[in-house]
Amino acid sequence: MSSFDLVSKIETEANLAISNASSVSVLKETEIKFLGRNGALTSLLREVGNLSSEEKPLFGKLVNEAKSRLQTAFDLKKSDLSKIENAKKTASESLDLTMPGRKFSVGLPHVLSQTIDRIRNSLLGLGFEYIETPELEDIKYNFLSLNYPPDHPAMDDQDTFYVDNNRVLRTQCTAFQGRVFESTKPPFRKFTIGRCFRNEAVDKTHGHTFLQVDVFMVDKGVSMAHLKGTLSLFARAMFGEDIHVRFRPDFFPFVEPGVDYSITNPFKKAGGANWLELGGAGLVHPNILESFGINTDEYSGFAFGLGVERIAMTQFGIDDLRLFFDNDLRFLEQFQA
Ligand code: FA5
Repeated sequence: MSSFDLVSKIETEANLAISNASSVSVLKETEIKFLGRNGALTSLLREVGNLSSEEKPLFGKLVNEAKSRLQTAFDLKKSDLSKIENAKKTASESLDLTMPGRKFSVGLPHVLSQTIDRIRNSLLGLGFEYIETPELEDIKYNFLSLNYPPDHPAMDDQDTFYVDNNRVLRTQCTAFQGRVFESTKPPFRKFTIGRCFRNEAVDKTHGHTFLQVDVFMVDKGVSMAHLKGTLSLFARAMFGEDIHVRFRPDFFPFVEPGVDYSITNPFKKAGGANWLELGGAGLVHPNILESFGINTDEYSGFAFGLGVERIAMTQFGIDDLRLFFDNDLRFLEQFQA
């Protein structure tokens, strides 16, 4: 068979192989077999040396035309096979849009943490410095430094959990005052927020564990007017511009005079009393200042403390404090920060 006849024979074989190729990878092998560097058609060109000089260009042209036709055929077939293979792949991997989605749950700060953040920001804005304080407290700080005489019945109001002869689970955040007095010279403005513990019969408004914020400042010439002004600003920062503060006489061993303080009920629209009691307050008792070596002719101070749960309960219309600690997501999820 002449070299010229071989070209068309190879082309026919190649066309047959192309139409029989069942996959892109088989087609690729076929392409290499015929058009590759050592492929059947390419190898034919090496025979050009045996041809006469008239035949050489004709033969070259014939081989190149056959190569180019075959290349087109390979490309077309490759595109057809790729489409089929891709369609199969997509079908096997396709999404089942009817399948129920996976639910991602995003956490959020506990409602009491949200209230604490708000209290903290309001007090920081008024120039008070936040400090962390221990829940397990020396009896000295919880009672004695706060002007409770030993065995004074006022301590019974805050019946508590004694851990040993020297330590209690603190009953009030006011316990932090002695620690501050021991480490800091006036003037200062400090506050702390944290858990307190009392041996209470638990009910809707009383827990054995609850949160308090306690605030105090000592400076020259501090009076009840500063206390009232600070509490008014604090209440407005917390609840809005129209809030007023009311003081009524009350007794706490560590203040003189002592008051309980209420604010005009910011949630009155939802019903309830005109006044809302938030906590206790007063001027730091001179006995305390003197016991820490502070000259009471020069310095005086005020202090106030309030219950955190009470604020959150009023703000969100919650009627049972125990809900905060039940860990029921149906309750907790309602308070988006
Ligand atoms: C005190 O604890 C004083 N240390 C507050 C104080 C500070 C007065 C500085 C003067 C100067 P009282 O026992 O009233 O006071 O508690 C203050 C607030 O803590 C209460 O108004 C209430 O909101 C909250 N509280 C007290 N006991 C409980 C309890 N068992 N459960 C939930 N909240 C409570």
